[in-house]
Amino acid sequence: MADGAGPVVAIDGPAASGKSTVALALARRLGLLLVDSGSMYRAVAFLAIERKVTVSDEQAVGQIGRRVRADYRAELPEEGQLKVFLGSREVTEQIRSAEATGAVSDVSRITAVRDEMVDLQRSMVSRSGAVVEGRDIGTTVFPDATLKVFLDAAAEERARRRYREFREKGIDATASEVARQIQRRDEIDSSRESSPLMVSAGALLIDTTDKAVSQVVEEIARALEGV
Ligand code: DC
Repeated sequence: MADGAGPVVAIDGPAASGKSTVALALARRLGLLLVDSGSMYRAVAFLAIERKVTVSDEQAVGQIGRRVRADYRAELPEEGQLKVFLGSREVTEQIRSAEATGAVSDVSRITAVRDEMVDLQRSMVSRSGAVVEGRDIGTTVFPDATLKVFLDAAAEERARRRYREFREKGIDATASEVARQIQRRDEIDSSRESSPLMVSAGALLIDTTDKAVSQVVEEIARALEGV
């Protein structure tokens, strides 16, 4: 940071560990760009479903990855969630549908897709710095990040959070279905060959199970001051 560039904060962790909420709050607090890499993989899954491309057709899904790299855009409004666009079309809701969520881990196993998304993430981060959240940010995308954070929470708590979120949005799912889906995603995300989810060397580990969002944000902001 001594040369005047802004900080890059890498936040990784499993599904429903609190990453998105914490990254959003931190980006707002520090006035930094927010890069939600999961939304990019979700956009690929969404387009594949819309175009009726099966996940096993790696070449076709890779091409969709190229499309998403060219068309992806995000906007952080003063309030509320990050808005995601493909070209001029807003897809914020669609990429979070149960169908897209069900396909996203399989899509993100494909190396051609990962290569495109990593390029996209790197190209979005300028010298002004950013909060970048995902699964492989500290290990692969920004191994030299100013600060690396790994968020985790007990599996039951993560399932509870996601179930609550679904209910608030009126998405129909049982608690056990939600728990099973999170478990399946974690297994695929952690065991895939290409940059699996894992704790990066030197990462600050935070267990968010019993912590409020504001506490976690505070902890990260303090750690950043000490870098
Ligand atoms: O954070 P999320 O739930 O929106 O992420 C959706 C999926 O995208 C996740 O299950 C795996 C994939 N992903 C990835 O492979 N690498 C990333 N850096 C971010 C997400």
